[in-house]
Amino acid sequence: MDSFPPIANSLWQQFQDELSQVLEVSQLQNLRDKYLSRQKGLVSLQLRQLGAVSREQRPQMGKALNKLRYDVERALEVRLEKIQAKDQTPATAQVDVTLPAKSFNYGSIHPLRLVRREMEDICVRMGFEIIDGPEVETEYYNFDALNIPEMHPARAAQDTFYLKSGDLLRTHTSPMQIRTMENREPPIRIVVPGRVFRRDSVDATHSPMFHQLEALVVGEKICFSDLKGMLEVFLRSLFSPSTKVRMRPSYFPFVEPGAEVDISCPFCSGDGCRICKRSGWVEILGAGMVHPKLFDMVGYQPGKYTGFAWGVGIDRIAVLKYQVNDMRLFFENDMRFLRQF
Ligand code: PHE
Repeated sequence: MDSFPPIANSLWQQFQDELSQVLEVSQLQNLRDKYLSRQKGLVSLQLRQLGAVSREQRPQMGKALNKLRYDVERALEVRLEKIQAKDQTPATAQVDVTLPAKSFNYGSIHPLRLVRREMEDICVRMGFEIIDGPEVETEYYNFDALNIPEMHPARAAQDTFYLKSGDLLRTHTSPMQIRTMENREPPIRIVVPGRVFRRDSVDATHSPMFHQLEALVVGEKICFSDLKGMLEVFLRSLFSPSTKVRMRPSYFPFVEPGAEVDISCPFCSGDGCRICKRSGWVEILGAGMVHPKLFDMVGYQPGKYTGFAWGVGIDRIAVLKYQVNDMRLFFENDMRFLRQF
């Protein structure tokens, strides 16, 4: 650099000193203006004064100043890149990849929903249509039309949630038998899953809100063996192919004959355990042939159709399937419980 004109040398020195102080892009911009701006840049001023330099010195001076301008430009660029790279490092530098990852909760399907879907799938495979019904019902659909007389214990105020309007929260899914038959002619093959409500206090086996799935088949020449056959297919698909199904005569005002249906205990396979109270059987649903009075209620031609219906507690099935000994677990939404499904 000896041959360099002193002015170029000292400007370069000065520039480098100042550049070493620069930390931010804005400072870099100022520095650039100070040296290179057209009007007042220190290097630009020198270049403009070239005309005043003697002829002999002019080429050398011009060359030196142009090189200076180029070097300053280049140094500014390099510094800019460094600053920009540094701007990004703090964020990445702060990531300690050796730290344990943050844990977060995955959603999963609620056990009641799992059982409900499984039941729905089985019925859909058998050609059933799945329909919904209202949770707020009228006394007519929940009771009267189902041949549940005024004085029947199921109508007593302690079992049913009545609303100010005189309507009520449905106590079972059976009202959908009437609503469906009112709206269509057989053949009918429907299942109705949904919430039902009863004024029970909460304990391990009771809840004021629980779930049922209702099935209804109506057509010509539907008979009790159709009901039995369907229940066997349904229950063996739901539990296991070796499940035994038993029907006991029972009374529900809207079926005749009516039955309570038991399966061989899924825990001890019928040997007798605590769950089945040593009987080897557990009761799981109510069923029967649709009472002719219901056909009258919906205006079907007398004697033309027969049908069957059954209703099952979804919560109860879930208790049996997953061996949950307390129904409250389904409604408390404790993550430790739900995470297992
Ligand atoms: N609705 C009845 C109940 O809630 C169950 C049932 C449905 C019984 C259909 C017979 C036929 O207990």
